[in-house]
Amino acid sequence: MTFRARAPYLFFLSLLTVWAQGPFIEKPYLQLGNSPKLEKPESLVLMWHTDEQRAVWTVEVRTSKDKAFRAASEAAPAAQKISVPGILPHLVYRAELTKLVAGEEFQYRVSKGGVPVFEATGHARKSASQAQHFVVFGDIAQGSVGQKAVANQVALTKPDFVFVAGDIVYSAGRVSEYREKYFPVYNAEQADPLVGAPLLRSVPFIAAPGNHDTALRNLERFPDALAYFYYWDQPMNGPVAKGHTLMGTPEAQAAFRDSAQRRYPVMANFSFDYGNAHWTVLDSNPYMDWSSPALRDWVAADLEAARHAKWRFVGFHHPGFNSSKSHLTDQWMRLLAPTFEKGKVDVVFAGHVHNYQRTFPLTFVPKPQADGKTMGLKGEVDGDWTLDRVFGDGSAKDAKPQGVIYIVTGGGGAGLYNPEQQEAPATWQPFTQKYFAAQNSFTIVDINGGKFRMKQVSGTGTEMDSFQLNK
Ligand SMILES: [Fe+2]
Repeated sequence: MTFRARAPYLFFLSLLTVWAQGPFIEKPYLQLGNSPKLEKPESLVLMWHTDEQRAVWTVEVRTSKDKAFRAASEAAPAAQKISVPGILPHLVYRAELTKLVAGEEFQYRVSKGGVPVFEATGHARKSASQAQHFVVFGDIAQGSVGQKAVANQVALTKPDFVFVAGDIVYSAGRVSEYREKYFPVYNAEQADPLVGAPLLRSVPFIAAPGNHDTALRNLERFPDALAYFYYWDQPMNGPVAKGHTLMGTPEAQAAFRDSAQRRYPVMANFSFDYGNAHWTVLDSNPYMDWSSPALRDWVAADLEAARHAKWRFVGFHHPGFNSSKSHLTDQWMRLLAPTFEKGKVDVVFAGHVHNYQRTFPLTFVPKPQADGKTMGLKGEVDGDWTLDRVFGDGSAKDAKPQGVIYIVTGGGGAGLYNPEQQEAPATWQPFTQKYFAAQNSFTIVDINGGKFRMKQVSGTGTEMDSFQLNK
């Protein structure tokens, strides 16, 4: 088709898009915001994207304690302009949703110039005494059929929140890729296995950055990359990632920094509480040096300060313990195993390897390489592990895991790795107890006080694995 022949068709398509999105480039979605601790009352952040025409926006909420809609907060929504080469300048709005009742559903509506243009239901963070139900998956927005089916299944489980273990958007974490493969799937109008589901407007997604999100830092090549720092609003209570340097012209770097503001680079490592659990979220990209005492001390101190929490989870992208031939030597996060053990971490969630794996509960003592370095040139970390082969699925009376359980849940949407190993346990590393790579999948966790129940479910709803922890 020539351009002349295509033009009316393209015009019609763009009209359809405008009609479908209303005044938004991206419709509202919830974020935890910079609020690492449980609050009473609770709060969340609502974000949406528009073109660069500023307007008077208002957000109202209605909780079980409100007779009618009321202002979401005392402050008006704030707009951050994103202006980087290769993409039309646009605004990212942020509104605080305050005085939410912990664990409860609330309604909210967004108005432009006094006219309501969007309405949805949100879910406030759970308090320490409430049961919680969340989903974990990594390696998600590749635009695949499997990604959309998983998104639909995730919505069917009605999670309180979703944790993304990195590689949020392929293949370079760009603004254009968020628009094509992330928002249309996770903020779809209707749940549909061929499209996605309206998740983002209803529950906060919380994410660790993966290599596809923040390791591609060449702003000359991808001027709209690193959108992680534009589109997420997460706690900023972690250490600064000193190794994260930008590439590109001084102008491109300045444009990025102006758009990202102080979220870059601090928002890549953080921690937060949800219900009776504490999460430590780390940037596991190779530019970070997790053998650095300062960084390890931060993790140790964060876990020590979380002794109050019944459950302690760690989330990052690159798994230390992986049996797939893909990424086999990306083992550098093993260096933190002793810190996790000392900090009484229960479960570590990672992605990067596009399948599902569960280790035996284990402890690990890293050994220096022959040259005295902490790891080999490819990232290998040698050492001695002690495996708890008695624990099984934790359902036996008095079953207590001896060590930390490491989960790879990188089958959230991207093309699967090494399915041929699923039926070949002889190819697995000794620490691997379960391995499923035949289908895209995600992790569901239910916590009720001292009961932890985890299952791995495929994009078609089939249960692949389950285990439990009891305290
Ligand atoms: Fe990855």
